[in-house]
Amino acid sequence: MTVRFLQVSDTHWNTTPITPGVESARRSNLLCDWIRGLIAPIDFVIHTGDLVHRGHIPEDDGESTRAALIPFQALHQPCHFVIGNHDNRTALRNALGDCPGQPLVESSERWCYRFTVRGEQFLILDARDTTEIDPHGRLDEKQLDSIQKVLRDTQQPTTLFVHYAPLAMDCDWIDRTMLLTNGEDLHRILAKDSDRIRAVFFGHIHRPTCFSRDGILYASCGSAAMHLSHWPEDTTPTVHPDPIAFANYVSVGPQGALVKTHWVSIPS
Ligand SMILES: [Fe+2]
Repeated sequence: MTVRFLQVSDTHWNTTPITPGVESARRSNLLCDWIRGLIAPIDFVIHTGDLVHRGHIPEDDGESTRAALIPFQALHQPCHFVIGNHDNRTALRNALGDCPGQPLVESSERWCYRFTVRGEQFLILDARDTTEIDPHGRLDEKQLDSIQKVLRDTQQPTTLFVHYAPLAMDCDWIDRTMLLTNGEDLHRILAKDSDRIRAVFFGHIHRPTCFSRDGILYASCGSAAMHLSHWPEDTTPTVHPDPIAFANYVSVGPQGALVKTHWVSIPS
């Protein structure tokens, strides 16, 4: 049976412009207004990280996380949140309360869990690691072991969500600084069960992309705030503040995974 969800990402909620011309709190709220106006069937909304812009700084008290969540919690559908490198994990966990699924690793500080909708399994991964490797991410060994075990034990068709690009993106600055450092390990695990992997969805690179390797679809959602260049020879990101918020409308089921990318205009 087909399950349909909406992926949004990298809203970078902030009360002041995060770059000239980008009022990210307003953009995030307008994106939620657009979602509320959709009449298409949506089983859940998934935010693939960087809900807020300054959640990662030591003096953050969680206020922006609580404010950024309000319009998402007012949506008609359940929302799931992946931890990004700008997020405040403690604030998000406290604001969301009980884990909305089964934890992938018991007693882990990481926000990683699984849930099922009409026979389709979904894994929320948390690859936020130390500040030393930021903005790279890394999945801890317990999480990798758990992914392997869950795929083996459940035998369910599975879709995964993680903030960071798992594999190289043919772009100098992204490949040097932004990837999962053990994304190849994740891919090796998934490739063993590729017939049951629907897709891996991510954010972080602030651009909608898709690619496949060994029969596994990887797809990112663009940002709702600012957009970053990703040409092969870009050694640093160029920021594009175009008034667009991206969203992926995704259908998964026996037919595979289908991604429809929407460009949501942000009125001035
Ligand atoms: Fe981001």
